[in-house]
Amino acid sequence: MTSNAVLTITDLCTEFETDNGQVRVLDGVTFHVPKGKTVGIVGESGCGKSVTAMSIMGLLPKPFGNIVEGRIDYAHQGKIDDLASLTPDKMYQMRGNAISMIFQDPMTALNPVHTIGKQLMEVYQLHQPELKKKQRYQLSLEMLEKVGIPSATQRMLEFPHQLSGGMRQRVMIAIALACKPDVLICDEPTTALDVTVQAQILDLMTSLQQETGMSIIFITHDLGVVAEICDQVVVMYAGKVVEQADVFELFDHPSHPYTQGLLASMPNSQSIPKAILPTIEGAVPNLNEMPVGCRFASRCPYQQDKCLQQAPILELKNAEHQVSCHFWSDLRAKGNGQEPAV
Ligand SMILES: Nc1ncnc2c1ncn2[C@@H]1O[C@H](COP(=O)(O)OP(=O)(O)O)[C@@H](O)[C@H]1O
Ligand SMILES: [Mg+2]
Repeated sequence: MTSNAVLTITDLCTEFETDNGQVRVLDGVTFHVPKGKTVGIVGESGCGKSVTAMSIMGLLPKPFGNIVEGRIDYAHQGKIDDLASLTPDKMYQMRGNAISMIFQDPMTALNPVHTIGKQLMEVYQLHQPELKKKQRYQLSLEMLEKVGIPSATQRMLEFPHQLSGGMRQRVMIAIALACKPDVLICDEPTTALDVTVQAQILDLMTSLQQETGMSIIFITHDLGVVAEICDQVVVMYAGKVVEQADVFELFDHPSHPYTQGLLASMPNSQSIPKAILPTIEGAVPNLNEMPVGCRFASRCPYQQDKCLQQAPILELKNAEHQVSCHFWSDLRAKGNGQEPAV
């Protein structure tokens, strides 16, 4: 386990029982989250970002979703707990106290029949039962103010449907932060919001992080957001990590052809119409028919025989950069030092 890591995820394999049999949705996912830093997880829809979050949170749908291999080591108070093997009771205590999560759609997580105040006060009651009702009320009010909700006294009395999308997301953040988690997992928390509100929420999260020193796992498909707020980036493809690096290193030297494709399809300027941006051709392989070799091979412009025969493993390119491609060093050489455009 890396010494400054609060979470170290090693060879995590998660499977679902489906009508088509057992499918392996995460296959050997490995990365770590340094203390006080933000780690972005990116990749196309269906690559396993949310399942990674659910596995860490112990919130896989039971009995169908299960971690079948691997560890999720959580370092706290001088000891290490493997979240993958905690009992449901212990995991319940971890959620909120140690690790909180905010979701893309706050309506799925907020209770429509309870006021904002009641829901927030409940969190304090659960995690700090010694507090008096008046103290819980006061803390809830302060937390709403902290996340930038105006007229907080009035909002305490309102129901989720009375708030705008941006305000609901702030309430979710307030609830997630109420117990001062060590790790906050954000699963596409700003996707449903308009750009201005999105920017406000991102600013808010960065300043709360500076204040509390928490670590953040930020799941998104928006590389612009990654560039703005993440320290490190994990790129996932078809249930595997294909590349991970410091954010500057990743944007300057993307080394997996898939990452290169993702970056190439990113709009650099508002003036480029989306329609003419390059996209990565082809489709992700079916979970039931994963190839033995590299999972990206069928879409990779640099595919060679070895890619079809043997799965690459995550290799250390340098201390800040790991990549899972047989030919990453050749690809760089070919481009005369320049990254090839996929
Ligand atoms: N409850 C479930 N049962 C079966 N398969 C699931 C379930 N939830 C997710 N999956 C599958 O797991 C894969 C990863 O999903 P997910 O983590 O939600 O992707 P994303 O990267 O878009 O968040 C997808 O192929 C999805 O179909
Ligand atoms: Mg998702």
